[in-house]
Amino acid sequence: MKKLGVAVIGTGFWGRNHARVFKELTETELLAICDIDAERAKNVAEQFGVKPYTSTERMLKNENIEAVSICTWSTSLAKEALKALNAGKNVLVEKPMAANVKQAETLLKTAEKEGLHLTVGFLMRFIPGLQRIRKAIEDKALGELVCANAKRVGQWPERIGDVGVVKDTAIHDLDVMRYIFDEDPVAIYAKTGSIAHRKFEDYAQIMLVFKGGKSAFIESNWLTPYKTRVFMVTGSEAIMKLDYITQELTIENAKETLQPRYTMQEPLKLELQHFAKCITEREKPLVTGEDGLKALKIAEAALKSSITGRVRTLTN
Ligand SMILES: NC(=O)c1ccc[n+]([C@@H]2O[C@H](COP(=O)([O-])OP(=O)(O)OC[C@H]3O[C@@H](n4cnc5c(N)ncnc54)[C@H](O)[C@@H]3O)[C@@H](O)[C@H]2O)c1
Repeated sequence: MKKLGVAVIGTGFWGRNHARVFKELTETELLAICDIDAERAKNVAEQFGVKPYTSTERMLKNENIEAVSICTWSTSLAKEALKALNAGKNVLVEKPMAANVKQAETLLKTAEKEGLHLTVGFLMRFIPGLQRIRKAIEDKALGELVCANAKRVGQWPERIGDVGVVKDTAIHDLDVMRYIFDEDPVAIYAKTGSIAHRKFEDYAQIMLVFKGGKSAFIESNWLTPYKTRVFMVTGSEAIMKLDYITQELTIENAKETLQPRYTMQEPLKLELQHFAKCITEREKPLVTGEDGLKALKIAEAALKSSITGRVRTLTN
């Protein structure tokens, strides 16, 4: 089987993991990496035995590169993704996809015009426990879906300096809620603020309301001294809890508590494997460009709600 030629743009904390996984997968061949930090580009390229670049334009001239992961700072993701799409490459752009909705819309239009694959790094969808929760909801194993809660808190990762906790951190849960409820929220209300961060919000509580009154609550911050990443969904007959860190899943009803055992899998590996398969087999990805755009729209609505103190919809 011919391997998919891939490259990574931005090889800091997260991009280095993309490079490692692309190197490990049998479906992909890592051909090059690019980072504007020349020293970093050289070190990472050496580690993986590929060619380093400090200019995206030069790297994208390589015709053997068919797909690119974009892992630069959040505010430069869209610019780099657009360059890759315009160079005819399929793209996985990390969350939050773009600095704003307008940039994300341009990415969607360009990918569609060029007939290229565009997906967004919403890693949570690849955690097997979340897939099981979604399946249980579909099968009505929890009864009627009532509400969901997500908590994603911990200390500020200081390398993140260009967006706040909503676009950096809560955006994962905004996507998870759309995925689990399988629809867009009809109302968004949020309270955000800043305690330690000078430029951006470092805590956020976001409430989403879905059709028929189902609701979701998201708590995110960069203040809690330890890291917690949990998700809980309540149905009329049972609840399911997922710890994203340990991947431990718990199902509880009035009679029993179950903890199904299943093999822990690296979500990034599953995500990048899926990315390569969708390109090779021309399949629709689990996360579309539209999913990225919608999550960003909800994030911006939440930020506006916090400023105005009003409930927002996706259209106002
Ligand atoms: N999906 C996830 O779970 C997940 C996890 C962590 C980070 N991320 C996302 O990945 C991205 C990177 O995060 P990070 O923690 O690795 O940040 P980082 O600061 O460690 O790395 C960013 C790297 O990009 C490089 N860079 C910046 N602009 C560039 C450009 N125009 N061209 C080439 N290189 C450029 C920087 O020099 C740096 O090496 C962010 O968008 C973040 O939101 C996603």
